[in-house]
Amino acid sequence: MRLSDSFLMEIKSRNDIESVISPYVALKRRGSNLVGLCPFHNEKTGSFTVYPQNGSFYCFGCGVGGDVVTFQMKIENVDYMEAVRMLADRCGLAMPQEGYDDSLQKLRLRIYEANREAARFFHASLHAREGKAGLDYLTGRGLSEGIIRRFGLGFAPDSWSALTDHLHRKGFDDDLLAQADLVTRRKNGGGCFDRFRKRVMFPIIDLRGNVVAFGGRKLPDDDSPAKYINTSDTPVYKKSHTVYAMNLAKNSKAANLILCEGYMDVIALHQAGLDNAVAACGTSFTDEQAKLLSRYTKEIIVTMDADAAGQKSTDRTIGILNRTGVRVRVLRLPEAKDPDEYIRRFGPERFRGLLDGAGNDIEYQLQSALVKYDVDTDNGRLQYLREAAVILANVDDSIARSLYTARLSETYHIPVESLEREIKAIERRRRSSERKKEAAKIVSGATAPDRVNPQRAANLGAAVAEENILNILMMHPALYDQEGLRVSADDFVTDFNRRVYERLAECIGQGMTPDVALFSGVFTAEEMGRVVAILNKSVGGDVAKEELRDCIQRLRREKNRQTSTDASRMDESDWAQKIKEISQTKRGDQKQ
Ligand code: UTP
Ligand code: MN
Repeated sequence: MRLSDSFLMEIKSRNDIESVISPYVALKRRGSNLVGLCPFHNEKTGSFTVYPQNGSFYCFGCGVGGDVVTFQMKIENVDYMEAVRMLADRCGLAMPQEGYDDSLQKLRLRIYEANREAARFFHASLHAREGKAGLDYLTGRGLSEGIIRRFGLGFAPDSWSALTDHLHRKGFDDDLLAQADLVTRRKNGGGCFDRFRKRVMFPIIDLRGNVVAFGGRKLPDDDSPAKYINTSDTPVYKKSHTVYAMNLAKNSKAANLILCEGYMDVIALHQAGLDNAVAACGTSFTDEQAKLLSRYTKEIIVTMDADAAGQKSTDRTIGILNRTGVRVRVLRLPEAKDPDEYIRRFGPERFRGLLDGAGNDIEYQLQSALVKYDVDTDNGRLQYLREAAVILANVDDSIARSLYTARLSETYHIPVESLEREIKAIERRRRSSERKKEAAKIVSGATAPDRVNPQRAANLGAAVAEENILNILMMHPALYDQEGLRVSADDFVTDFNRRVYERLAECIGQGMTPDVALFSGVFTAEEMGRVVAILNKSVGGDVAKEELRDCIQRLRREKNRQTSTDASRMDESDWAQKIKEISQTKRGDQKQ
């Protein structure tokens, strides 16, 4: 069921696009539009454009676009109805009662309730007799009662059904508990059992304060192979998009965020007064997590574990963070395997001292390269400088690059010019190989297929004419269906543009002014990018009428040319007939 057009227009007029987007994207005015860094892909220069006049946005970098609803869907990772509901809440509008399928929303609310009840149960168990081992373990690791409460830590009893029974009594059924991943279904179909047993529990809380998932750590005497187990993805949780303790760190007064590896590191840091510590949730760090962090801070200090795996993940994490444009510093911890252990051994003050001295990511990379070579020998020095040049060739910030080039030149008594020459050469080689790859892709036709309008590339002339027609009619609906300017859905060659036309005609036919908001319920978030690109094309200008006539003629010419030649436009039976003819003439040839 579709929401009424008048309701959608009401949502749109009460949620102006600038105020919906600006909490997520720092926007700068450019002419009558606003521009910022796209929150949906990693970029360093702003391609993300907001058009306040018509309530749309479009990213020239990744092609994402739409109206307020599309933005809400994509940024909060929710479906269409949920996005509309959030915007309705935001402006105090009630959702219409009819024609609105809110079953998914109801399921989500129910899962939040079950999770909250589970968190309460785990927390109470930690302080009960059955949780003594868990509480002893946490206090043994130096956690205070205050910090245990702040993080809502708990204990899952050593039982197959303690939580299940508790939640049954609270009115939650097996089906819901399984969807929340709080229980596991028995293989033989005979009910469910608790997923977390005999584990210290870490609730994971989203930015709105909902308990969305759990991590559970085994006790030291447990021989279970998994140290931690985590909630899988559920209708309310996507672990690759979630950052542990972000709900607390987002309120920190600190100028940066500290990204560490483990739940326990985060908690130890918060207890030491560093309330800006966060971690990934039992996954390796993702682009989405980086994007989320970069919305809240300009600087991130990365402090991964000291082992080989930690070093590797540091390198990966730096790469991911660099793409978001935040400043990155790296903290190496001497004589401890992770921040939690460091603080326990040397105290929070020493840790803060290290934090102030944390080098930036360039220093970190140079330092990591340095330890590989014996720079007391000529050969070792040469190899190190070669690797250092590769590192600096990747640095975009030209001031930072000159600074480190000068430093290397001083330390190793190498003329700064020769280092610079080497760096430039590496950069040129890299650029040219990137260009070659790009060109090869285009030649082999391996550029990203156009998923929104797959017929566009093969019918470019017609598609462009169609898009111009759509643009003009959106901007000048009065020209619709005028004598001599009539088009119909049948004139359209590409199916996608035809669908846009049909919706447009429907709106105009009902006496409505065409508006992006009237498309977002009918087209997917991905398709909306194209709709907005068409809308913001500005083709017609003062001569819209002539231009429209032109485009209609061009489209008809293109279409005629197509139907006479293009086999791909034949339907199945025509095609079979044609193949038959061809094979018959061939056989005929052979006989002669
Ligand atoms: P660590 O093994 O470094 O754990 O894993 P930790 O947080 O330092 O825990 P302690 O100090 O041994 O108690 C880092 C993070 O990786 C995820 C968890 O999020 C953990 O906090 N992890 C680790 C898992 O999801 N599963 C595992 O089996 C291990
Ligand atoms: Mn640890």
